[in-house]
Amino acid sequence: MRLVLMGPPGAGKGTQAPAIKDKYCICHLATGDMLRAQVAKKTPLGREAKKIMDAGGLVSDEIMVNMIKNELDNNKECKNGFILDGFPRTVTQAEKLDEMLSTNSTPLKHAIELQIDDALLVARITGRLVHPASGRSYHKLFNPPKKNMTDDVTGEPLIQRSDDNEATLTKRLTTYHQQTTPVVQYYQKTGIWKPIDASQEPGQVWKSLLNIFEGKQ
Ligand code: AP5
Ligand code: ZN
Repeated sequence: MRLVLMGPPGAGKGTQAPAIKDKYCICHLATGDMLRAQVAKKTPLGREAKKIMDAGGLVSDEIMVNMIKNELDNNKECKNGFILDGFPRTVTQAEKLDEMLSTNSTPLKHAIELQIDDALLVARITGRLVHPASGRSYHKLFNPPKKNMTDDVTGEPLIQRSDDNEATLTKRLTTYHQQTTPVVQYYQKTGIWKPIDASQEPGQVWKSLLNIFEGKQ
């Protein structure tokens, strides 16, 4: 199964993707996590990306397309399929993805849009805690870790992302509406676009996803 998971910051892409990955044995490619790994390693790309991410903008299409192409060509975990989380974010990225997939005759099956009002996202983003090494996310109120500020699996400390503040969120939302809403419209013209109400609690969102995967929606 090959799918794109779309939605604004805090919609629940990173919360739902690991369960999809485990159920269907496919890879989870989260471009934000990949960029944050570069930031942590202080590579030249990481240094440049950090400035852009903290300003709520987008890293260049060329860099992002090459990053995804490299994974799809070389990551063995992606042979069964993939979940793209945070990519494509511009129409150019969507077109380049289509080109890559048509070369391999491996088209997308679903382009799922997690729909939610901006007003609900402030609380989600400002309360989020993440385990940087795995990308696992928690929430101070909605999904607290078992032990204060530590990852349930490794016991390592949880952190807040540097872009998870109200001011940067406002910019990330503006960028989403300007640059990524056209990507949603791009997929709406195909037969693979499927919307989900992402304001539901996480278990309900999961059920809506399963309905799509089982062909009930
Ligand atoms: P990225 O890391 O992709 O950030 P984002 O798109 O802003 O999305 P988030 O990770 O904030 O949200 P999410 O939907 O994963 O939410 P989550 O499940 O964690 O990108 C970061 C930056 O990198 C971009 O701004 C850009 O600069 C750059 N970048 C990345 N990809 C790029 C690309 N392709 N091109 C160019 N630049 C790119 O949930 C959030 C919180 O809510 C959590 O605390 C969670 O526990 C909670 N929660 C989740 N679901 C629910 C629910 N149903 N009910 C209640 N709480 C919930
Ligand atoms: Zn995410």
